[in-house]
Amino acid sequence: MKYRLAEPADVPAIYDIETMSFKTPWSLESLQSDICSNDSAYYFVAEHDGKVVGFCGVHVILNEGHIMNVAVAPDYRGQGIGETLLRTMMAYTNLEAYTLEVRMSNRTAIRLYKRLGFTEVAIRPEYYIDEDALIMWWRKS
Ligand SMILES: CC(C)(COP(=O)(O)OP(=O)(O)OC[C@H]1O[C@@H](n2cnc3c(N)ncnc32)[C@H](O)[C@@H]1OP(=O)(O)O)[C@@H](O)C(=O)NCCC(=O)NCCS
Repeated sequence: MKYRLAEPADVPAIYDIETMSFKTPWSLESLQSDICSNDSAYYFVAEHDGKVVGFCGVHVILNEGHIMNVAVAPDYRGQGIGETLLRTMMAYTNLEAYTLEVRMSNRTAIRLYKRLGFTEVAIRPEYYIDEDALIMWWRKS
C-alpha cells in the first residue's frame, strides 16, 4: 500500500469511494474544487496496485486542522488503511491540533479517532439533519 498526496487525476476514484461511503456525499464538483483549487486543503490517498482505495482530507486554518473526510473502499476496510491515512496526514501537516465531526452512530470511526488520541469534546445537535454530531479534538501534548 502506498500513501501519498492526492492529485487531480485521483478525483474520480475519490468521488467513487465518497459515494460508496456516505449518505450525503460531496458532489464531484465540490471534491474537485477542494482537492484542486483550495490552497488550505490537503488530501491524501491510499493506493494499492495503482488503484486508489481510500482517502482523507483536511483544511488547515493557522495551526489547526479540520478533518473534512476519511473513507476507505468497502472491500479494503479493517486492514488499518484508515488509521494509516490519518497518521500520514497528521505527520505531513504537523499541526498543533485537529478537530472533526462524526455521526454519533459511527462507532467504527469514533474508535479509530480514539486510537489516534482524539477525545470527545461536544455534541452538535442535528448537525447531519437526521443525526447529532460528536465533535472530537486532538491536541499536541
Ligand atoms: C471509518 C473508516 C474510514 C475506517 O477505515 P478502515 O481502513 O476500515 O480503518 P482501520 O482498518 O484502521 O480500523 C477499522 C477496524 O479494523 C481493525 N483492523 C485494522 N487493521 C487490522 C488487521 N490487520 N486485522 C484485523 N483488524 C484490523 C481495527 O482495529 C478497527 O477495529 P474496530 O472497528 O473494532 O476498532 C471506514 O470504515 C469507512 O470508510 N467508513 C465509511 C466512511 C466513514 O464513516 N468515515 C468517517 C466519517 S467521520
